[in-house]
Amino acid sequence: MKLYTTFLACLTGFAIMTSCNSTVSPQDRLTVNDDKINEIIALMTLEEKVEMLHSKTNMSSEGVPRLGIQDIKYTDGPFGIREENGDGFRPLGWKLDSATYFPTGSALAATWSKELAYKNGWAMGKEGRLRGKDIILGPAINIQRLPVGGRTYEYLSEDPVLSARLSVEYTKGSQEAGTAVCLKHFALNNQETNRGSVNVIADERTMREIYLKPFEAAVREAGAMCVMPAYNKVNGYYCSENAHLLNEILRGEWGFKGMTVSDWGGTHSTMGAALGGLCVQMTGDNYFGQALIDSVRNGALDEAVVDAKVREILRLRFAIEPVPEDVANTVMTSQPETQKVAYEIAQKSIVLLKNETRNLPIAEDVKKIAVIGQNAVLSTAAGGVGAGVKTLYEISPLEGIRERAGQDIEVTYAPGYRSYKMSWGKPGPLGPLDAASPSDPADPELLAEAVALAKDADMVIFFGGTNKSIETEGSDRQNIDLPCGQNELVQALYEANDNLVTVIISGGPCDLRVLDQYSPAIVQGWWNGMEGGKALAEVLFGDIAPSGKLPFTFPLKLEDSPAYAMGNFPDKNSGGDLFTLMYRLDATGLTRDQIQEYIDNLPDPESRYTEGILVGYRWFDTKEVPVMYAFGHGLSYVDFEYGALKCRNRNDRIEVSFDLENLGNMQADEVVQLYVRRIDSKVERPYKELKAFDRITLNAGETRKVSLEFPVSELAHWDMDKNGWIIEPGRIEILVGSSSDDIRQSISTEI
Ligand code: BGC
Repeated sequence: MKLYTTFLACLTGFAIMTSCNSTVSPQDRLTVNDDKINEIIALMTLEEKVEMLHSKTNMSSEGVPRLGIQDIKYTDGPFGIREENGDGFRPLGWKLDSATYFPTGSALAATWSKELAYKNGWAMGKEGRLRGKDIILGPAINIQRLPVGGRTYEYLSEDPVLSARLSVEYTKGSQEAGTAVCLKHFALNNQETNRGSVNVIADERTMREIYLKPFEAAVREAGAMCVMPAYNKVNGYYCSENAHLLNEILRGEWGFKGMTVSDWGGTHSTMGAALGGLCVQMTGDNYFGQALIDSVRNGALDEAVVDAKVREILRLRFAIEPVPEDVANTVMTSQPETQKVAYEIAQKSIVLLKNETRNLPIAEDVKKIAVIGQNAVLSTAAGGVGAGVKTLYEISPLEGIRERAGQDIEVTYAPGYRSYKMSWGKPGPLGPLDAASPSDPADPELLAEAVALAKDADMVIFFGGTNKSIETEGSDRQNIDLPCGQNELVQALYEANDNLVTVIISGGPCDLRVLDQYSPAIVQGWWNGMEGGKALAEVLFGDIAPSGKLPFTFPLKLEDSPAYAMGNFPDKNSGGDLFTLMYRLDATGLTRDQIQEYIDNLPDPESRYTEGILVGYRWFDTKEVPVMYAFGHGLSYVDFEYGALKCRNRNDRIEVSFDLENLGNMQADEVVQLYVRRIDSKVERPYKELKAFDRITLNAGETRKVSLEFPVSELAHWDMDKNGWIIEPGRIEILVGSSSDDIRQSISTEI
């Protein structure tokens, strides 16, 4: 008992030390308790140590009960604290675990707001504490390499700088609210197809400049305490046993001092994972249980390797104070102050793609609106596998519009098309409105009903896009077509009433070639959190100006995108999804033994990243391939004037300043974007690359001086021969504008 009290007292003391010492680097803050931690390790048996290195339950790993050290409790993020679940992720049906559903990853990224990313992390961290959690499994910060990617909606952007800046802020916010982040999925988990077995083959430059950047920034600058090795292999080794990624880069180069936790079911060996840098096997103990003990006892593995893992876990344990059992889960997870954050993000994420004939904002003489499309009413909180949220409430677009329209404007609704729904690998239909497949044609009856409403209204708001059965963890989309006959429907609606606005509700890009012809105005509305419907109505009615910008390119057609154009995707082998196989026996109809045999015999597919650093707009720009809507695109209800640039290069930082004027008659935000183009570089480069950005709020008619800056080190490239970062001297052109394809001013300078 004495020992127990002593350790608890130490725990509190350690937490205070951690937060008070502001002179140390973010990662070094984790090591302040190392002397005490080493004393604890010296007291532990091998069995106690190994008990910490695998799951205890689906969402926890063991502490050291004999020494009063609490278990570590995990929860899924990244945009809502997941409901409490038991074996097989079955919900436990708690009453107080309804959380705030924040806008999903691509929606957050569309705000291009560091401040909102911080608030998002902070709000998640706060709710994590209310639920007694130590680690949020998020943010999910892989680069959106494929337009079809099943988890595009969870991830932030196709651009590493935008992803990195937002990841840093989210991480700071969550950890300052008291809950550690677990950056996922490290690394190069850019496809769901064969995610459990695919071997990603990428060169070092591509990895460093594109795919590792957001992880590096969140580790180095924000002190992320936990990292989740991904399911896939990178250059021949599973991420959970990839010594190059975990030991050489993460710990060696970036100075990571925290712990690593395999993705669920993503551990594949005892010795490989032990030496390759994994701390905790999630879930199960077949590798990091008795087999690990035996490996130490028979001399194959040095116990110091186990000690190092325990040390890294204890660092996090001491930095994050455990929430006492009787304090956790005593109030509802979702709280008004965190709901407000969801609302603020939603207001700033909505992207106005097109407003050709100024159909938006909704004109004052509109007295009857026909809202068409199931996506106006379909919930987007749950589904999509791990990142689904049991939301406390969710304001749908239709509810938001009706509420804002009030008594004076009549709002009618028709579903317009069948929605495709799927449950754990089993296709629908689950109800009368469900299509059998996303490629189903328009339903004639639903179409006729919708057209009749459109004819009878002053204006049509069509809600198209995908849903969380189409874009989901565990599988990639087959294509980016608008599903279930939406193209046919929108054409018919436009012919009935050309005062038509389309709102795309999706997490990733869709093929808009047909829709674009029949829709004078288009809005990207995202899966925008519990307050999404309210925020959308405010934008449509012009209470606020739209200010989101695309975090990824909408290609004209899928085949134009880099991995497709290079023939790198799709690959032919299909291995099934590990997670579904392991955790949902009900969905597969197989026994555990049959599943193990299946996993052992998975094919060995490869994904070659030969497009290299030309990901997203870097590809389209450099190859001069036209796109539907460019990276960074997003219109407002006002115009902004960009003044001439002034550039200063001092103290290894480049500072660019200019005047920005709001020419309109309402307050509005502009996201200013700075790209750099290398002139006469001897190295292969994209045409231009984002280096800095900011979100500026200006009142009607206001002019403000804006400054953007970035360190010269941001201009370094990874030199494959020297195996390191190099800054190539020479002239650079600085391009500043409202979007990657709307550059307003430029200036050149020497570095
Ligand atoms: C996902 C992770 C998630 C984990 C636990 C995995 O299938 O890839 O993102 O955190 O499950 O739910």
